[in-house]
Amino acid sequence: MPTIAFVSPKGGAGKTTSALLLSTALSKLYDVTIIDADPNHPIGTWASGGNAPPRLSIVSDANEDTIIERIEAAASETPFVVVDLEGTASKLVIYAISQADFVIIPTQGSQLDANEASRAIRVVLQSEKMTGIAKPYAVLLTRTSSLIRTRGLAHIQNGLIGAGIPVLETELNERDAFKAVFSFQQPLDGLSAAEVPNLDKAKANIESLAREVLAKLTAEQGGRETDAGEAPAVAGVA
Ligand SMILES: Nc1ncnc2c1ncn2[C@@H]1O[C@H](COP(=O)(O)OP(=O)(O)OP(=O)(O)O)[C@@H](O)[C@H]1O
Ligand SMILES: [Mg+2]
Repeated sequence: MPTIAFVSPKGGAGKTTSALLLSTALSKLYDVTIIDADPNHPIGTWASGGNAPPRLSIVSDANEDTIIERIEAAASETPFVVVDLEGTASKLVIYAISQADFVIIPTQGSQLDANEASRAIRVVLQSEKMTGIAKPYAVLLTRTSSLIRTRGLAHIQNGLIGAGIPVLETELNERDAFKAVFSFQQPLDGLSAAEVPNLDKAKANIESLAREVLAKLTAEQGGRETDAGEAPAVAGVA
């Protein structure tokens, strides 16, 4: 516990990228299992480079029949479980959502992407109705520019917030470093600043995401695991 699922029916929304970056950041302080539940196994491929951090375990054999068991088993082994899902609204996705303590919906800043995010939110709300248990979730804006704020993005952000949809303050900026993680099969910490531009900014972006997600989880759990309002230290995570 807790289990964090990355969900969006939109292919390429940034689920795998943000799931892996958050997992490697958390694994600097905690044991983390990432369940690579996309049948294409992008995280398993990344880990086959042999550079996964020591506190990060990867489970790549989850399918529709086993996903609930795999999440339960992982949650009993490590304090954090992160689930990367395929970009469809399959049964596997619905089962994973049912087991999640927090659902993150990565969304790029276009209206079409926002529409897809709404579909993901409907699935989360259905899960909430079926179980009668609140299912905390938030939209994560992805691939945004760190330099300019487009009117289109501001419009979408305001629309989501205006509709009462939780949006993480931290955005995942468009960064070469986030692509390089997959090209070089390394965590951010394994990349060289000589090869990858703005690596320090990329690390700061992920630290900020990890800090915000930890604070949200802490708030959702009513401060049971850590003091409310005080996010666990994540300095240097990346
Ligand atoms: N913040 C980012 N900066 C740079 N590139 C990014 C970023 N986020 C995602 N990408 C790139 O966008 C593409 C799609 O990202 P990713 O695979 O994470 O999406 P996904 O939602 O998991 O897709 P799928 O639905 O196919 O599983 C990849 O090529 C990835 O490298
Ligand atoms: Mg993916």
